[in-house]
Amino acid sequence: MGLTRVPGLLFGGDYNPEQWPEEVWQEDVRLMAEAGVNLVTVAVFSWSRLEPGSGSYDFGWLDRVLDLLHAHGIAVDLATATATPPPWLVRAHPEVQPVDAAGTRLEFGSRQGYCPSSPVFRAATVRLARAMAERYRDHPALVMWHVSNEYADHTAECFCEESARDFRRWLQRRHRSLDGLNTAWGTSCWGQHYTDWTQVEPPRKAPGPVNPAQLLDWRRFSSDALLACFEAERAVLKEVTPDVPVTTNFMSVLRDLDYWSWAAAEDVVTDDAYPDPADPRAAVKAALSYDLMRSLKQQPWLLLESAPSAVSWRPVNVPKDPGVMRLHSLQALAHGSDGVMFFQWRQARYGPEKFHSAMLPHGGTGTRQWRETLALGADVRRLAAVAGSGTRAEVALLLDWDSWWGLEAPESMPSDRLRLHELLLSWYAPLHQRGVAVDLAPPGRDLSGYRLVIAPNLYLCTAGHAAALAAFPGQLVVGPFSGVVDAADQVHHGGAPGPLRDLLGVRVEEWRPLPDGAVQEVVTTDGTRLLARTWTEWLETAGDTEVLARYRGGPLHGRPAVTRRGAATYVSCLPEDPAPLLDAVLAAAGVTGVTGAGLPAGVEACRRGRHLFLLNHGTQPAAVELPADTAFTDLLTGRALPGGPVTVAPGDAVVLEARPATP
Ligand code: GAL
Repeated sequence: MGLTRVPGLLFGGDYNPEQWPEEVWQEDVRLMAEAGVNLVTVAVFSWSRLEPGSGSYDFGWLDRVLDLLHAHGIAVDLATATATPPPWLVRAHPEVQPVDAAGTRLEFGSRQGYCPSSPVFRAATVRLARAMAERYRDHPALVMWHVSNEYADHTAECFCEESARDFRRWLQRRHRSLDGLNTAWGTSCWGQHYTDWTQVEPPRKAPGPVNPAQLLDWRRFSSDALLACFEAERAVLKEVTPDVPVTTNFMSVLRDLDYWSWAAAEDVVTDDAYPDPADPRAAVKAALSYDLMRSLKQQPWLLLESAPSAVSWRPVNVPKDPGVMRLHSLQALAHGSDGVMFFQWRQARYGPEKFHSAMLPHGGTGTRQWRETLALGADVRRLAAVAGSGTRAEVALLLDWDSWWGLEAPESMPSDRLRLHELLLSWYAPLHQRGVAVDLAPPGRDLSGYRLVIAPNLYLCTAGHAAALAAFPGQLVVGPFSGVVDAADQVHHGGAPGPLRDLLGVRVEEWRPLPDGAVQEVVTTDGTRLLARTWTEWLETAGDTEVLARYRGGPLHGRPAVTRRGAATYVSCLPEDPAPLLDAVLAAAGVTGVTGAGLPAGVEACRRGRHLFLLNHGTQPAAVELPADTAFTDLLTGRALPGGPVTVAPGDAVVLEARPATP
């Protein structure tokens, strides 16, 4: 069973017919059918058109859109339209607009201007979601509900009085008593001891650094407050249309929302991915976010938005070169997406996104963009057999939002240069380069299905996390500045890595962050030289802890840099390129890339079910070594390949299916 009842892979995009006269809709559906579009997302920002006055609805135009789409065989991911409150609601209830940390209430005139804790806003969204569900419950085009849009985009937090009250209720549930809160927040520091709940406020703009424990709870609360908005709408949709899957579109690797708890509340994970074509690391960053999406529910997911070419919201919006839209789309499929969807179908004539690319550009059908849209639609159809299949990864990277939030507290850390996304990428990039399949996992999960687990950083580490890691039988790698604080952001007694000390057999005496640009040499026992930047540590080791690498030069000269106790490796610095360390643990874990051999530079290899994707992001033809005894068919071209080396042209891809041996 796929993500929806649409067979094969999904192909399409956001469709905003309310921006166009109805005659244009006829052309839209005709061209959609020509391109092989089988799913469109409709009504994302349509609240003001669907409910032009409180409780008075105008569904007529949407009825006609859905009927027309259905008549042309196009299914609908129907938005609940609650992403932007309409003017009448905002003017009648100005308190639904969010307030920033400095106390400014943000004005109407953009989008997603709402306070997540506003009871007025929540009630209005639930009422509209119910009206939508009751109206379209039996509409044959409806295959998925799209709640709101990109929660935390524009408004990740609100500092108004209503949010403050909601925050206090959340804190009372978490800490039970004011004593509990005072202890957890360490309010004896800087004279913050509270004697009444009404004194507790969000971490608004203050003269100096705010209490990091308060900030950590605030980030937890802000993620939960938005999740409550999603869950309120979801509950209504599930009541009225229990069989229609419910999603909301995520924003790739995003700090603001704890996607583990969000994904648990969704039927289908969907993602919006906008890798910057001008970024040389675009492909590896996209791969990481796609692997996260696949890991969230351990099932296929859907790329619900991507840009056919340029976006409109960067300072410089570089278009995609010919072929790049295709390659990036195939990459999402390789990493477990069950379709390719875009923002948006038809390029807008007005509004802030009039220069954003679209499947059908201003120039119409006589354009390179349209030709590439048609060709991609055909490729997606050729890959139908991929739909529903999974990926088996033997390596997991740990990702924990509490820890991320704690690590990136402003103005109170030994260095603010430790950014979790970069730390994840520092291990992910060489794994990706080797064609090793990777899952992301939360630290408390049963990890026994993996051979190698890497925690690039686990700043916040509870006894539960430590127990899960101690129970893991495979190879474990833990990165620096881990095991530092508990769930309340209080430092573990006795030194880092706190509850991981026994497992790793090390104790950190001193953190020694490096100034920008400084380099620290590290040498492994076999003489391999690594260069560390940003961070180093003064380590003490237990008697049976092996030293795998030592610092060379400077105040740490001769001291342990990388250690190992049993199957647990600790890396106390940030090597520019951890490849030698990685190769050693991969070998110890018995993990290889999916092709079983090395990969030429720029080539990405992913196995999905019985299909092997090879994508050449480089500028040179690349020969990939495959087993000589297996013959393949390339699903994209129908070409039969005899086995042995396969050459992939620059910017091109092959999707290989093993052919049964002929007797
Ligand atoms: C997304 C958003 C879309 C559109 C797109 C443009 O963040 O969900 O509505 O604005 O960006 O890149």
